[in-house]
Amino acid sequence: MKIIRRKSELRDLTKNWHQTGDTIGVVLTMGALHDGHLSLVKAALSRADRVIVTIFVNPRQFNNPEDLAKYPKTEDSDARILGPLEIDVLYIPEPEEIYPTDFSTTISVSGVSAGLCGGDRPGHFDGVATVVTKLLLQTDADFTFFGEKDFQQLQVVRRVVADLDLKTEIVACPTVREDAGLAMASRNLRLEPQARNVAPGLGRALDDAANAIARGESVAQALDTARQTLRAAGFDAVDYFELRGDPDLQPLMSADRPGRLFVAAWLNGVRLIDNLPVKVG
Ligand code: PAJ
Repeated sequence: MKIIRRKSELRDLTKNWHQTGDTIGVVLTMGALHDGHLSLVKAALSRADRVIVTIFVNPRQFNNPEDLAKYPKTEDSDARILGPLEIDVLYIPEPEEIYPTDFSTTISVSGVSAGLCGGDRPGHFDGVATVVTKLLLQTDADFTFFGEKDFQQLQVVRRVVADLDLKTEIVACPTVREDAGLAMASRNLRLEPQARNVAPGLGRALDDAANAIARGESVAQALDTARQTLRAAGFDAVDYFELRGDPDLQPLMSADRPGRLFVAAWLNGVRLIDNLPVKVG
């Protein structure tokens, strides 16, 4: 595994690979790697001839400076974790490779980025769409792998790739959870032991709400119960608990077509998100 920090060096390699007919699979991350990220890397290894993992903590997608400052930065251990997987390149661009001082372009996606995390975190998905576009172009990706854990992000990236005619094929990968059901996330590292016991309640609340809706309970009632359950379990605030249509992410008042439940809630100063499909019919 070669660590590369300059796009010109990366471009020489990717050009060479494509000239010899190799395909390139790319996994974009912000580091603090866990088994969720590694499931994407394994999917990439099984699909593409060459695999690039990127680590870039993208300041433009953080609407809260404190969250950015606290975001875990664990480059050495990330490189160690990736070692045995035998990827080709770990690309950790210098900040000016992504945002030179005169950088002036923003990619903004309407529709699927409205509400949910787009509502609570203004500018977040503009930052995501912009950096993802740049990184997919810099890595010359044939395939790119995104987790369903961040389902709204996945839909935003699908739109960018379709609307801008990027040549990348997007592969969606299922959410990886801890045994207790907590969706793995880099921010989980910031949870204190007491909060770690409470956190799996998020996945359970999703499960319970999905089952209640599948049994025919009204969506409004199921969501109300879910919010109350989270507060009673010790979550400090629930930013949203909503049913949205899949794939358009329009709000659904009843489960009359395929949908997903989405939740964001605060625990111990950490914002946790998760989502789950709801069976209909
Ligand atoms: P990050 O949170 O590091 O996640 C990188 C990728 O790993 C995303 O596609 C995310 O959905 C996936 N992922 C994270 N936790 C997962 C889990 N428990 N199971 C499955 N997949 C999981 O998402 C970002 O970084 C950034 O927004 C990025 C796309 C890199 C742009 O900056």
